[in-house]
Amino acid sequence: MSLRLFKLLLGKRKKNTWNEQYLEGKWDTLRSNWEDARFDVMRKFMGSYSVKGKILEIGCGEGLLQAQLDPVIYSSYLGIDISEVAVQRALYLENSCTRYRAADMEEFNPAEKFDMIIFNESLYYAKCPCSTMLKYMGFLEENGVFITSIYETTRNKRLIKKINKFFKPVESAVTANDRGRWHCQVYRKCTRVKMEKNSTISMNLFRYLSNLRDMVKIYTGWSLVEYSDCELVLQSIF
Ligand SMILES: C[S@@+](CC[C@H](N)C(=O)[O-])C[C@H]1O[C@@H](n2cnc3c(N)ncnc32)[C@H](O)[C@@H]1O
Repeated sequence: MSLRLFKLLLGKRKKNTWNEQYLEGKWDTLRSNWEDARFDVMRKFMGSYSVKGKILEIGCGEGLLQAQLDPVIYSSYLGIDISEVAVQRALYLENSCTRYRAADMEEFNPAEKFDMIIFNESLYYAKCPCSTMLKYMGFLEENGVFITSIYETTRNKRLIKKINKFFKPVESAVTANDRGRWHCQVYRKCTRVKMEKNSTISMNLFRYLSNLRDMVKIYTGWSLVEYSDCELVLQSIF
């Protein structure tokens, strides 16, 4: 089976699962007060780093973040989500500067660059979260930023640690309530990646090695770590 066909089938299965979950109301909780604090922090960070910028939100769900965002902070807003059901529910928010599209973050290649890319509780659904950040780094303008929110679980704590090893957050906040803890972080676009022993490598080489590692994982099922990212391989090389 070709890699392209394999990815297509995998993507379709994921899309169906998310569509079913939205239809069953599994994500209705995102509208509850429990989530307010993290949405507020995300909007505050977005306001501090964007003045009339171009924003891409990946895994935007039903558009809850943008729905209450001050429109002065963006000149254009594009939300993408793998679930057509969620996107359909966000379409009422569309206007001359706001668009929502159904797309898989693994396959999506925007035709433009952005000042800000948001992963609001979506990055950890990527097959390879670090590689996904690397891919989207290429779609950030020179002074662009990523803003992420990651719900705290044991696995996600490891993921945050891993991301922060390579990309230094310029701002972080943790919100907490009886339901859990959310880590919101801001990262700037970088052109070199920090490695062990204080050395750095270019982003292009890093991206190349990450892709190589992902191919190994897809074809052999062999994964060095729970999150199939590239750092262990890189650490053993450098
Ligand atoms: C926990 S929900 C968060 C939704 C929204 N960001 C919010 O906070 O209300 C995760 C979202 O990521 C989306 N998602 C998961 N995998 C995705 C993928 N490969 N590409 C695009 N979106 C994806 C899901 O459909 C879902 O809407």
